[in-house]
Amino acid sequence: MSTKKNILDYETVRLDDEKNALVIINQTKLPYEIEILSLTEQKDIWTAIYLLQVRGAPAIGVAAAIGIYLAALEISKKTDNKDEFCKEFVKAKEYLASARPTAVNLFWALDRMENVAKENVDKSIDEIVKLLHDEAIKIHDEDIWVCKQIGEYALTLVKPGDGLLTHCNAGQLATVKYGTATAPMYLGHERGYNFRIFADETRPLLQGARLTSFELHESGMDVTLICDNMSAMVMKNGWVNAVFVGCDRVAANGDAANKIGTSVVATVAKRYNVPVYICAPTSTIDMNTPTGAEIKIEERKPEEVTEMWYKERMAPVGVKVFNPAFDVTDNDLIAGIVTEFGIATAPYDKSLPEIFEKKRKYMEGK
Ligand code: MRU
Repeated sequence: MSTKKNILDYETVRLDDEKNALVIINQTKLPYEIEILSLTEQKDIWTAIYLLQVRGAPAIGVAAAIGIYLAALEISKKTDNKDEFCKEFVKAKEYLASARPTAVNLFWALDRMENVAKENVDKSIDEIVKLLHDEAIKIHDEDIWVCKQIGEYALTLVKPGDGLLTHCNAGQLATVKYGTATAPMYLGHERGYNFRIFADETRPLLQGARLTSFELHESGMDVTLICDNMSAMVMKNGWVNAVFVGCDRVAANGDAANKIGTSVVATVAKRYNVPVYICAPTSTIDMNTPTGAEIKIEERKPEEVTEMWYKERMAPVGVKVFNPAFDVTDNDLIAGIVTEFGIATAPYDKSLPEIFEKKRKYMEGK
């Protein structure tokens, strides 16, 4: 029996209690090398998020939750003054929040951690730190259940043998387990659905090629890598029955920001009558952002377009480059938003609040 570990045997993001470290797979090295980073310094955790060593909206949220817990632990070693502790905690939170602007899970996780500190401000610093530890673990563990639920709901939208297309990486590498857009693929694979999956390469950082095709191929699925400009052809050929993508932020009206190029895929899919499903945990739905127009879109360095991955620079020196990391898919191009509490469909201003109502009832009953 082979003892060789598969990429899916490693945890994307976790807390190491012995070393008080955030442990991640360095995704910038995949698929060539599986490098595990053990991060203890706040600046290293910030850099890991900024450089996409840990990436994907849910994984960023989990990393931030663990990161702010580790910050609180460090602060507690330096002061026993509660005001000082709270001031430094807020500073650490703002620092981590500045790593990337679009994925709302980063802010959602940090706010959730801050609420724990606020609600328990009368307790001792050590008790607050312990509660922050437990909340970070909860955020980590919940992600597995959330993704599995998304997978179960998404699986009701397709049938065995279907062709599925995905863009970027909303896979296990973007979450704790299963992924969001890949959750129906993993669950379907376990149940013998024999999906034919198309993974867009995802220029300029190639998450589709380096990460999605890697993890799905390693898990034994039928996955075909295509360049970003090939989605129209595979859809026109009738090879795609549904598109499943992840998301970094869903606005209250159902507009959804995801990896750059998603809106191109969705526009093409509309032309060929292929339904597009956004797989998004409720932590990715931001009811405080009214429409996609208000979502802050991250812009990254021009070198990602002109130099990265090439032996030599492939564009003229000095040429202007526009490098937005995300785009917004308009809600009318979206057939459904698959969450852990069910599938929201248009009109989203009605269906998304219903999803949150289901969540509220579920939490109440827990
Ligand atoms: O820039 P990245 O690699 O963090 O972008 C990731 C995506 O766009 C994913 O599709 C999204 O975060 C959803 S992950 C479940």
